[in-house]
This record gives sequence, structure tokens and C-alpha cells, in this order.
Amino acid sequence: MKALELSANKELAVVEREKPNIGENEVLVAIKAAALNHREIWIAQGLYPGMTLPCILGADGAGVVVEAGSQVTADWKDAEVVIYPAYGWGDNNAVPTKQFRVLGMPDPGTLAEYIVVPVENLFPKPKHLNWEEAAALPIAYLTAWRALVYHANINKDSKVLITGIGGGVAQAGLSIAHALGAEVYVTSSKQEKIDISKTHGANGGVNYKDQLWPKQLKDLSGGIDVVLDSSPSAVLDDYFTFLNYGAKIIAYGSTGSRKTTINISKFFLRHIQFIGTAMGSPQEFKDMLAFVSENEIKPVVHSSYVLDEVIDAIDELKAGGQVGKIVVRIE
Ligand SMILES: NC(=O)c1ccc[n+]([C@@H]2O[C@H](COP(=O)([O-])OP(=O)(O)OC[C@H]3O[C@@H](n4cnc5c(N)ncnc54)[C@H](OP(=O)(O)O)[C@@H]3O)[C@@H](O)[C@H]2O)c1
Repeated sequence: MKALELSANKELAVVEREKPNIGENEVLVAIKAAALNHREIWIAQGLYPGMTLPCILGADGAGVVVEAGSQVTADWKDAEVVIYPAYGWGDNNAVPTKQFRVLGMPDPGTLAEYIVVPVENLFPKPKHLNWEEAAALPIAYLTAWRALVYHANINKDSKVLITGIGGGVAQAGLSIAHALGAEVYVTSSKQEKIDISKTHGANGGVNYKDQLWPKQLKDLSGGIDVVLDSSPSAVLDDYFTFLNYGAKIIAYGSTGSRKTTINISKFFLRHIQFIGTAMGSPQEFKDMLAFVSENEIKPVVHSSYVLDEVIDAIDELKAGGQVGKIVVRIE
């Protein structure tokens, strides 16, 4: 089978590998589409903890079950599925175990013609989605779902800020928050992305490259209750300009800065909560898929490539011009 492999020398190439064998509780999924995440870029640069190479990359995938192990119930055979993109969450919905790990390093990933996963990683593909849209769901929608529903418990009275709206998780957050009836504001480096997000339900947005963006956001929104944040500022005090008392900052990325500082007195006197989150549990994945189906949400696919062009797809992700997910079709 063809697969995108990162070699021990950190060279990225589409290579031929043996089709993997299944165990008794496992299935072989013929991948129809896989989506890229920033994770592949960090891994290819050797910037991910626990680097174990060589490895087939990719965490997001959707496809058809073509073989099922002896202990797997027969109805999974030929099923159209979306793959829960991790192992080892454990039984506690509040936090994962230390064994929690995402597909695509150290375990083989989805950017391949086939993947073997335990049957418990399978979930039926939402019927209203095509393969590319289904592949765009797992990491982005799971991360945004847990942040907005489990951590922030948003509703129609919430005013939500989503930073860096071009990103995959940010786009997922916009769809989910909009479907829950929240008022949504966005930031972006590009006016064009703010304009597109308004057509997807955002109430407005500001350009984070403008130093006055916190004041502009306050004027536009009147105040923010929840921040879905891929890139907290190096100095979080800027956020006090627009945060309402009791606001929650839910951080899931560190695109802008790996460190931040905050005026701790304002932080506690205003009852602000700063919460870290990463992906979500299998139960949250199931709940998220049900919500996507019920509300007929379609993830935004920015562009689509075939597996032989995957390096170009990764270059496009690195360039950062996208609105939504970059997807790889496995034909
Ligand atoms: N915790 C988790 O479970 C989890 C899951 C997925 C991703 N992540 C992390 O979250 C981050 C975003 O990933 P993604 O896949 O959603 O995004 P992505 O598709 O890689 O896009 C990144 C976006 O970040 C925005 N951005 C860049 N610099 C920024 C800055 N200084 N301030 C605000 N926004 C900025 C850009 O938005 P504009 O073009 O609109 O300016 C860009 O479109 C990455 O660091 C990734 O590793 C974490």
C-alpha cells in the first residue's frame, strides 16, 4: 500500500509498505480521505514529544471497513466510518490517561491506503457528508466540541471569541458555536477570512495584526464570555479590555506564543478562568458526531489533494492561507 512516511532521518515521502494485518478485535479500514493537522508539521520538524520513527503520519481519516477480526461483530464489515483519532483516553471523561496518544506517531496514521485500528475507534460516518468532509471532522471538531461544550458549556446567551479563524479547529468552533445559537466574534490576520466567517455565521471580527484589536473587539461585541484560543497573546492583559467578569479562556494551541503573562490581580478579581484542553474522549467524539448529523453541519474543506501530492498539501498548510481543512483523497 502507499503511505506518507516520515523516515528515521526525518525525510517525508510517499512510500510502498506492506498492507497491515489485523488482530481479533481490530479492523482494516480502506481510507477514502484523510485531513491534515498542524501536528504533521510539528512532527516532520522533530518538534513533537516522544518522537518514534519511521512512522506513517496522519490522524484524521474516514473510509470503509474491508476486513474485520474474529471478535468483531459482522455488521462492521463494509461500514462507512470515521476513525476516533487517538488511543488510551481511558474511562474518565474529565481527563485522559498518560497513555493517551494521537494516531500518526508513534502508532501508524491515516495518510495511507489502509490502517488497522481497534474496533472501538470506529464510528459511523455522518450520512450527509462526503468523504472529504467526513475526514475533516475528527481532530478539529472533537477539540472544538470539548472546548465549547464540556469546558465552556456555551448557549444562546454566550458571546464567544474564536482566534485565528483560518485554522481547522477555529472553523469547527464557529460551526458548533453558531449551531448552539451563541454570538460569535473572530480574529484573523486577513480581512478576507473575517468576511468569509461572517457568511458562516460569525457576527463580526477584527484583525489581530492591528495593535488596537482588543479595543476594537470590545466596541464590536460589548464584551466576551468565552475565548476559543489557538494562540493566546504573549501578554494576556490585553484580553482584560474585552473579557466579561467570569469569562473563560479555553486554550488549545500555542501558535502565537508558547509563553504568556497575566496581571494576576485582575485575573482573580474578575473571576476569569484559564483552561487548557486537548482533543476529547470517545464519548465526546460520539456526541460531537451526533450533533454534526442533527444540525447537518458541513466542515469547511479548503482544498483537496491526492496522496501523491501530499507534500504540496503540507506546504499549503505551512503557508497558512487556508480557511478550513486541507484534505488528501486516497483513490
Ligand atoms: N489541543 C489540541 O487538541 C489541538 C488540536 C488541534 C490543533 N491544535 C493546535 O492548535 C493550533 C491551530 O491548529 P489548527 O490545525 O486548528 O490550525 P491551522 O489550520 O494550522 O491554522 C492556523 C491558524 O492560526 C492562525 N494564527 C497564526 N498566527 C496567529 C496569531 N499570532 N494569533 C492568532 N492566530 C494566529 C491563522 O489564522 P488566520 O489566518 O485567520 O490569521 C492560521 O490560519 C496549532 O498550534 C495546533 O498544533 C491543538
